[in-house]
Amino acid sequence: MKAVVQDRYGTPDILRVEELPLPQPRSGQVRVKVVATSVNLSDWENLRGRPAYARIGGLRRPKHPTPGSDIAGWVDAIGEGVTRFRIGDAVYGDNLFLKGGFAEYAVAVETALTHKPTDLDFVAASAIPQSGAIALQGTHGAAPGTRVLINGGGGGSGVFAIQLAKRAGAHVTGVDTAAKLDFMRSLGADEAIDYRQDDFTRQRYDLILDMVAHRSVFAYRRALNRGGRYRCVGGTVPTLLRVLTAGAVVGAVTGRRLGMLAVKEGPAHFSPVADLCLAGEIDTRVDRTYSLEETAAALGCVGAGQALGKVVVTP
Ligand SMILES: NC(=O)c1ccc[n+]([C@@H]2O[C@H](COP(=O)([O-])OP(=O)(O)OC[C@H]3O[C@@H](n4cnc5c(N)ncnc54)[C@H](OP(=O)(O)O)[C@@H]3O)[C@@H](O)[C@H]2O)c1
Repeated sequence: MKAVVQDRYGTPDILRVEELPLPQPRSGQVRVKVVATSVNLSDWENLRGRPAYARIGGLRRPKHPTPGSDIAGWVDAIGEGVTRFRIGDAVYGDNLFLKGGFAEYAVAVETALTHKPTDLDFVAASAIPQSGAIALQGTHGAAPGTRVLINGGGGGSGVFAIQLAKRAGAHVTGVDTAAKLDFMRSLGADEAIDYRQDDFTRQRYDLILDMVAHRSVFAYRRALNRGGRYRCVGGTVPTLLRVLTAGAVVGAVTGRRLGMLAVKEGPAHFSPVADLCLAGEIDTRVDRTYSLEETAAALGCVGAGQALGKVVVTP
């Protein structure tokens, strides 16, 4: 089978497409003939080996030689003890622990996957698992009368987060680059802020979901109403550590909550987003699709911040 190989950390040009043996599913695993794999910022971080948390499990080189975790495709082989799937089932999920999605076939843990609804196409399905889980958990608490801010609102998770918060009745502000302001408004954002021009911490919010944390905990505290909550999912390591330590203290003594969101994985955490997409209540926004041979370009597009929403590779 053809697969993308990453044998060290670096820039997209280190990725090669090679002929590899077909992977065999072990106990509790299935093999998926991949139709679509979406690109997440975590794939870019895994390519670069930065921030440092991207090297967990592989200090010098990635633990898994083929990247790509958000897969959608057909089950074509099953390992011992698999009970939920049969050969020929259409599935999708976040294969974060085994990866291998930028390939014609990938082996996944059974519990990472769920059945793909017939009306959801493979490209849309692959766009949902990781971003949808982040957005769903990150916007928990959005409600009528609340002010919600999504930092990094024009990216993969932001697409869902803005729509979910808006659907929950909140007043929503998205922060991203100038090129994504209209895009965020098209998703329902009431306000859109260019982070290179304006400082979002000069206004106050009840809930902040931050994809790219890099400010001080005092800035985040300043941006929260009393009783408000700040959750970050990604960003620079020093900032994340400060949020976990000083942020927790600053929040506690000022009647706010500052912390990092450890996103729960698995179908229970992303299929509600797929259900909302199927019901026409929210949209997957896929900007571009790339062939397997163009995986480096797909990752480069996300890394350079050029995508409006999701980018998908279709092996
Ligand atoms: N905590 C957990 O358990 C967990 C689990 C899975 C993933 N994650 C992490 O969650 C994050 C998810 O991000 P994603 O997939 O939504 O990323 P994404 O698609 O790349 O979106 C991030 C957006 O933020 C923008 N941005 C960059 N710098 C910014 C700044 N200073 N201020 C405001 N916006 C800025 C980017 O635009 P430009 O690039 O154009 O600037 C981009 O539009 C990743 O870091 C991933 O590692 C966490």
